[in-house]
Amino acid sequence: MDPRGLEFLDEETPRIIMFCGKGGVGKTTCASTTAVHFALKGYRTLLISTDPAPSLSDMLELDVGGAITPIPSVPGLEVVELDYDDVVEKWKEKFGAEVYELISAFLPVDEDIIEYVAGAPGIDEEFALSYVYDLYVGGGYDVIVWDTAPAGGTLNLLKIEETFYVHLGEAAKMYVRVRSALDALTQGRAKRDPLKIIGEWEQLAKNVLDMMKDDGTRAFLVTIPEALGVNQTQRVADDLRRFGIRVGGVVINHVLTEEAADSDFNRARRAMQLRHVEELEKTYGGTMPVVQLPLQPYEVRGVETLKKVEKILFPEPT
Ligand SMILES: Nc1ncnc2c1ncn2[C@@H]1O[C@H](COP(=O)(O)OP(=O)(O)OP(=O)(O)O)[C@@H](O)[C@H]1O
Ligand SMILES: [Mg+2]
Repeated sequence: MDPRGLEFLDEETPRIIMFCGKGGVGKTTCASTTAVHFALKGYRTLLISTDPAPSLSDMLELDVGGAITPIPSVPGLEVVELDYDDVVEKWKEKFGAEVYELISAFLPVDEDIIEYVAGAPGIDEEFALSYVYDLYVGGGYDVIVWDTAPAGGTLNLLKIEETFYVHLGEAAKMYVRVRSALDALTQGRAKRDPLKIIGEWEQLAKNVLDMMKDDGTRAFLVTIPEALGVNQTQRVADDLRRFGIRVGGVVINHVLTEEAADSDFNRARRAMQLRHVEELEKTYGGTMPVVQLPLQPYEVRGVETLKKVEKILFPEPT
């Protein structure tokens, strides 16, 4: 039977459910609704946003902030929005000492180098992913629902992670080649073997990439039935495949229902939308579920509204 919504996720619930797509198509709506759904079903659920312009707080009408916050009206649901300043602070706490150890093994530097490295491009993204990884392996959650940054954003995180991984491998090889010269230069200043530190970082990057490729991780493409959305969806789908991330389905949001198409204006709009719905079904329908989320007459805000949308996105099997 064709799914009407995402109810098929109840049968085989992924450990990580990501929502990806272009700006404003409804990623936060789908992610929040899905997280509410699984929490209501009794799963320990974490809703996380790595969007640098986060909107979970607005959607939940709560000040979530950079700390993991329980949602009192939905037992079992916790929410966190990564605050990127906070991310850099946490990165320094976690890796600062290692960075200093590593670099001071090569060069006569003082601890200011930590600040410098912490400000380097990609470090916040790198940490955002290792933060998700820690929560994933921590075992505290049955399901992690991930509200990602628009379109390229999250995949950039992965590109950086992949680059980082490759570079670490290169760094280790380079270090081996120059090791004896460096040892003479630094006269054994390093407290720990730099190769070990590089190796640990490399392992962490690999773990993150493996988590994304895991069979228990599913990305959903969220789009609107318009050409811009459809084209962007294709690009995001291609990128996800390139990283070996499994795509679990497509959600076409903002669809005007037949009842809603009650004026010439709305009938014309619905006809336009249906052409794109058909195109999406033709492209993806053969390999994955393609479901629709109708446009609602209300704004999606607050937990009570999310519970209403939950009934639409996760209809009871008939
Ligand atoms: N099916 C729907 N019916 C009515 N309103 C909707 C629906 N889906 C989303 N919205 C509204 O559309 C707006 C954008 O949705 P949302 O914030 O989920 O998109 P997004 O993809 O997360 O955006 P961004 O890329 O900015 O993070 C919100 O104001 C939300 O309330
Ligand atoms: Mg959003």
